[in-house]
Amino acid sequence: MQIEVSPGALAALTSGALVVPVFADGKLDGAAQAADAALGGAIADILASGEIKGAPNETALLHSASQATKRVLIVGLGERAKFDLASLAKYAGTAVRHLGKRNVKSIAFALPLEAAHHAGHAAAFVIEGALTGTIDSTTYRTEPDKPIALDKIVILSAAGEHEFDKAALETGAERGRVIGEAVNLARILALTPANDMTPTHMARQAEEVAKTFGLTYHALDEAQMLEKGMGSILGVSRGSDEPARMIVLEYAGDPDSTDKLAFVGKGLTFDSGGISIKPAENMHEMKYDMCGGAGVIAAMSAIAQLKPKVNILGVVPSSENLPGPRAMKPGDILRAMNGKTIEVINTDAEGRLILADALCYARELGATKIVDAATLTGAMVVTLGHSATGTIANDDAFRDHFIAVAKDTTERYWPLPLYDEFSSTVKSEIADLRNSTGRPAGSLTAAAFLKAFVGDTPWIHLDIAGTAYTDAETPFLAKGPTGYPVRAFVALAEDAAKTPHAKNGAVTAKASVN
Ligand code: BES
Ligand code: MN
Ligand code: ZN
Repeated sequence: MQIEVSPGALAALTSGALVVPVFADGKLDGAAQAADAALGGAIADILASGEIKGAPNETALLHSASQATKRVLIVGLGERAKFDLASLAKYAGTAVRHLGKRNVKSIAFALPLEAAHHAGHAAAFVIEGALTGTIDSTTYRTEPDKPIALDKIVILSAAGEHEFDKAALETGAERGRVIGEAVNLARILALTPANDMTPTHMARQAEEVAKTFGLTYHALDEAQMLEKGMGSILGVSRGSDEPARMIVLEYAGDPDSTDKLAFVGKGLTFDSGGISIKPAENMHEMKYDMCGGAGVIAAMSAIAQLKPKVNILGVVPSSENLPGPRAMKPGDILRAMNGKTIEVINTDAEGRLILADALCYARELGATKIVDAATLTGAMVVTLGHSATGTIANDDAFRDHFIAVAKDTTERYWPLPLYDEFSSTVKSEIADLRNSTGRPAGSLTAAAFLKAFVGDTPWIHLDIAGTAYTDAETPFLAKGPTGYPVRAFVALAEDAAKTPHAKNGAVTAKASVN
């Protein structure tokens, strides 16, 4: 796939289709005005007729005899006053899915004048959305749905009279490509069913990413985990024939700094619940219980390409949770890497068990800050549905900073409290901790459990149970895995490279990048 920025005089356009944004106010300016003029007023006509109103992701395809503007797809951007740059990802995704399914191979995107001062971000969102729009979830069919095979995506630097900053568009487009491809990698890993996506396979995929993009890779096997005292993840993996792995990727972008931001992702390749087995309904969706881990691997692939000046560690504990003959049983007591003992009340609360050892290991490997992502609790889906990721931390300032950084992405994060009393709730009568409590605040008591394994390291927990996959197709994205939390992880890594850090006791000058 070719991605380019074109000076984009409309008349010189030879792309298969031109995509033009319109707002709900129906006022045509910039590229929309120019395209309307080239089409003899056809865009104004179709808006006046009420066929489309400019609502978000609404489309109308116009055809004309003119070679330069043979096909024009109008895509709604909603209310002008509420325009936000991230909506350009949906704009582009909608166009790609609409046109791609109609065999259009090259698409040129016009940008709204509203994005004039943010050319780089606008281009990044367009390319991210265009790329994520291409993926469908039917790759295992002998006759998959007609694939969206684009040859070329163009971003037009001209919008009527206005010229966008071409260099900024190019840098942004490249950033969008890296992020879009990483998001798609996470989604493809998640789509791979559990009979193919075993912990061993997940480790191989991480190794492959490390080789391709130049990261350091290692993975602990079960014997090595035993040596490290990782009795918590080993307890989970006992019920399965597939051996667990503790997968590690490292990116060393700032050798002069001892700061190390760690991303830890739940890589549970299939969650049957174990002996506390789940009901059959929707159990097949538990192949997606490795979305956090896939997100870490994919985010590391993007970080390796974007090369921020920062050190990043990625840790993915990977295991199956099955009720085999040697499976852990309710009442069993496990000992995690930090020596803490855990009473297993419910074998289906396995995510926190594999994360416990992964969090300890991240600290042993030098993590100075940790963000974990996990499809951890069904309660999270009850709390925020599929609309936002619950964001829970032992450090409110770090959490709020993360949420502010993630605001500039197409992902949503929402803060939830981690009160001290939740730490009392997860105490066991006979061990240090119990892995399951009552129904109240289920996502928050799960977080309180994890908190016992991060010590005093600033840490954020992202419960992506509701956001990692959806069962509804949208105009811009196929149903299935969404690629959460790849975009926020990449954004945080890039942000960390801009934030001053303590060095030899002194605070270095703030490197102002933009
Ligand atoms: N992987 C599940 C959580 C989940 C449920 C993710 C639904 C996505 C959709 C997790 O391992 C789990 O089973 N959690 C239990 C915890 C309980 C036993 C304390 C849950 O949420 O029911
Ligand atoms: Mn479970
Ligand atoms: Zn699970």
